[in-house]
Amino acid sequence: MLMQNTSSPTPAAAGYPDGLPGLVDAVQHKNPMHRKFMAGALAQMTVDETQRLEQYIAYCQQRGLTIDYLSDCYLTIVGDTLREQIYFQKHRQYRYSTFAEVGASVYFNDEYMSFYMYGLALTAFLWPNHLAMLRFFRDNLPKNSGGKYLEVGPGHGYYLMTAMEYAGYDSFTGIDISETSIAQTRALIQHFGGGRHAERFDLQCMDFLACTLPADSFDAVVMGEVLEHVEQPQLFLKQAARIARKDAYIYITSCLNAPAVDHIFLFRDTAQLEKLFDDCGLRIRQQLVCPYQGTTLQESMESLLAVNVAYVLEKK
Ligand SMILES: C[S@@+](CC[C@H](N)C(=O)[O-])C[C@H]1O[C@@H](n2cnc3c(N)ncnc32)[C@H](O)[C@@H]1O
Repeated sequence: MLMQNTSSPTPAAAGYPDGLPGLVDAVQHKNPMHRKFMAGALAQMTVDETQRLEQYIAYCQQRGLTIDYLSDCYLTIVGDTLREQIYFQKHRQYRYSTFAEVGASVYFNDEYMSFYMYGLALTAFLWPNHLAMLRFFRDNLPKNSGGKYLEVGPGHGYYLMTAMEYAGYDSFTGIDISETSIAQTRALIQHFGGGRHAERFDLQCMDFLACTLPADSFDAVVMGEVLEHVEQPQLFLKQAARIARKDAYIYITSCLNAPAVDHIFLFRDTAQLEKLFDDCGLRIRQQLVCPYQGTTLQESMESLLAVNVAYVLEKK
């Protein structure tokens, strides 16, 4: 079902330089069609974001991951997404709709999940919509409020690490159903130190719906790119609303008409998602809607092209 980019390294691949220049070379060498996209993405990044991407790649290399491997991680997501887009344009549905169809091959498959999460972390910089959501997150994160921060589905860990660096919470908890995600998040935070909160994080490998968390207990609830991965997103939103304190910062991202190998819940428009927030006791404070690159929102919707959305919410 899942198609990895298994191209063996060519002699050129063996000679890729380290760091971002090597990654760019490798991606462009293996997928020349991606050259223009990559150049545009790099041009959009600030100096600080470029440095952070370089630091992330250097960290991966220190962990023994080669540029060849990292470029395969990234290109697997590119290739898998394209394949699913073709399927979606034909059938107007995602390929799968149950957790049972994707759980074993994605979240509980260490080899694939590692590959997927390193690749996804790279898209946080290299895909302009993902970068826009990361910026939106960082810019709106309360910087000086104390209390407890919870992140559901940290995956690669980059958002959790960013929160630890920028936000002023007293403790940070991450809950993810995948052991691979938990391990990747832990390693990332340990490496980058988590700023002044280095000792204040706790990671649990659990299904968020199975957690018995007390009501009104978190000052921040963050859930990035999780709702489209679950069968009943309303249960995740209700649980988020239940455990959030009255003035909690609630940050949620998702996507519309955005097929991926493990997207099982299809949101067709913002109205559907926003009604769900309302039904689950959440109110929108701020929103970011990112149409498919190079199109307007109307064009994306008319052509069923992927749209990314991010929301800052509050409990009603
Ligand atoms: C696509 S990744 C998102 C990573 C990151 N939050 C981001 O925005 O890039 C989705 C994550 O949600 C986790 N996940 C899926 N279902 C879950 C559940 N029921 N409970 C907790 N985590 C879950 C997956 O294991 C994965 O790490």
